[in-house]
Amino acid sequence: MSGARESVHGEWSGSVFFVLAATGSAVGLGNLWRFPYLVGDNGGGAFVLIYLLCILLVGLPIMMAEILIGRRGRHSPINSLRLIARDEGLSPAWQGLGWLGVAAGFMILSFYSVVGGWALYYAFEAVQGGFQGMDSDGAGALFEGLVASPALVVIWHTAFLLLLFGIVAAGVRRGLQRAVTWLMPLLFLLLVVLVLYGMTSSGFAETLTFMFRPDFSVVDGGTVLTALGQAFFTLSLGMGAIMVYGAYLPARSSIPGNTTWIVGMDTLTAIIAGLAIFPIVFSAGMEPGQGPGLVFVTLPVVFAEIAFGSLLGIAFFLLLSVAAITSGISLLEPAVAYLKERSGLSRTAAAGFITVAIWLLGIAAGLSLNAWADVRLLPFADLGIFDLLEFVSNDIMLPLGGLLIAVFAAWRVSAETRLAELGMQADSFRYRAWLLVTRFLAPAAVVLVFLNALGLFG
Ligand code: PHE
Repeated sequence: MSGARESVHGEWSGSVFFVLAATGSAVGLGNLWRFPYLVGDNGGGAFVLIYLLCILLVGLPIMMAEILIGRRGRHSPINSLRLIARDEGLSPAWQGLGWLGVAAGFMILSFYSVVGGWALYYAFEAVQGGFQGMDSDGAGALFEGLVASPALVVIWHTAFLLLLFGIVAAGVRRGLQRAVTWLMPLLFLLLVVLVLYGMTSSGFAETLTFMFRPDFSVVDGGTVLTALGQAFFTLSLGMGAIMVYGAYLPARSSIPGNTTWIVGMDTLTAIIAGLAIFPIVFSAGMEPGQGPGLVFVTLPVVFAEIAFGSLLGIAFFLLLSVAAITSGISLLEPAVAYLKERSGLSRTAAAGFITVAIWLLGIAAGLSLNAWADVRLLPFADLGIFDLLEFVSNDIMLPLGGLLIAVFAAWRVSAETRLAELGMQADSFRYRAWLLVTRFLAPAAVVLVFLNALGLFG
């Protein structure tokens, strides 16, 4: 029995499009917004090093596992897991892993869309010349004014989700494939321009020290958990986004080869984002530990100063929005694909229902930054709704989902299936290395980090 099943949702036109779409999913706010501020909040180099280890030893093997499951199942994650479990005589409870992913996707997209809305707002501001003459105080005030305004936050969150809905409803492949082909390289080019600018600025040396000289005295269990959570988040792992894209992967495409590209491009983008942003922070005498506002309070300052800054500013925030959109689509897709398979609704209707649910949750996330700042859902965790959604989904649900994906693919599924999907020989070094890491190292890393963090919080 060799992957004879066909995707009911269609297929990518070739490996390149899968790599572009999966890279579009991976490269997003996680790289350009979250990674830099986490580095800033967690003391720099040591965090970067732990993060890179998590990517290589946990993220890469689990991404292969996730694509393997998707391509074998050829359906939404819930149904792929159900079908493979049935084919291989495993417990039907494995489909619960798909549900965990759908829940994580809802929670992530609710706050992701709020931040995606900020990116849109900044693009809009840039177009109107709003960054002209801006210094770091002005940039801080612009960001605070946005976040403190319930109306602005909700309006731009709504705009962001409407864009996602439009694209997913119209069919991801045609619009998305084409857009990503042009926009991802352009985003990359812009980042390189920013890095070049950063290299000429006085803060570059300090940036290199900050990002690449590890100071382990600032590391604790919480730091490692954050780095691991970020590795899952940035690679879109643990909730079925990459799995559902894998379901549309042509049978002959190489899973290990594609995975290497996706992981490589995502990691490069994150590092480049750091190299672009921190020189600005240091040159302007700002603090790296600014939290979620970091890119929004730093970049407008540089766009106000440099030649063609207003054009670059427009381009950067538009592309930040695009990067967020290509990721947001993949957060929506697993649930939409499932609802479509299950109900026979049209894609548009399925996307509509799910978008509305996420929109409501996102309003709660957005308002928790201003009007509902004091609302607490969990009495023992002193986190507002936005932070709680982010913490539970990124730092708990994604690593847990990734752990179960690794167990399913490396322990439960038959060797025959694994070898057929990965296109490897049973006695090859590559296969043995993958199996060893996915069976033992990746799950152990997740468990250890969880235990450590529990000790820390309890
Ligand atoms: N990887 C995306 C980013 O870095 C976020 C994401 C997480 C997308 C999980 C899909 C699934 O912005």
